[in-house]
Amino acid sequence: MRLAILLSGRGSNFAAIHEAVDGGVLDAEIVCVISNRPNAPGIERARQWGHAAHVIDHRAFPSRAAHEEAVLRVLDDARPDFIALAGYMRLLSPDFVARFRNRIVNIHPSLLPSFPGVDAQAQALAYGVKVSGCTVHLVDENLDAGPILVQRTVDVHDADTADSLAARILHEEHIAYVEALVRLSRGGYRVEGRRVIFSG
Ligand code: GRF
Repeated sequence: MRLAILLSGRGSNFAAIHEAVDGGVLDAEIVCVISNRPNAPGIERARQWGHAAHVIDHRAFPSRAAHEEAVLRVLDDARPDFIALAGYMRLLSPDFVARFRNRIVNIHPSLLPSFPGVDAQAQALAYGVKVSGCTVHLVDENLDAGPILVQRTVDVHDADTADSLAARILHEEHIAYVEALVRLSRGGYRVEGRRVIFSG
């Protein structure tokens, strides 16, 4: 599987994916890593690990469409089978999503459809849920809404802060993202409406 990574920040999910590829757990080639932020630690890691690393700063473009065109040019060259959003803090336009229908994967730090959007862990804590977790899903035109690939749960503790809950969830994110990509790389799945059915 040819895999492109889009990120904006820390890049710990990217690191988990990189390690899974490196360790032979995930049969994939990371064909490019793109950051919309020049100082993202994730893009620095990509450089250190020798990946094709591209900074495409959205602030340098007059519109979302113009920025996406630049991202698309890199993707056209890299020819990924799948695009993994790993903390990519930009909304993708419907045109972009349509171009890679069911081939863009995202991770979100809650059990969707609960708590989409920003600060999902703080939202979960404030709501008082006793269980939260993370969701790896295919990306559609709506925010944090596409068909679900993998979910993993964590308990919410009475003493939790948003940060401690986020850390517990992040640990599961790294496992869930790799698991979802391994499953996609093996093929043998179908998408029926909202449901992703894996046969293997
Ligand atoms: C993760 O919590 C992920 O669920 C969310 O953004 C964060 C990215 O973290 N979409 P990292 O950059 O992968 O460390």
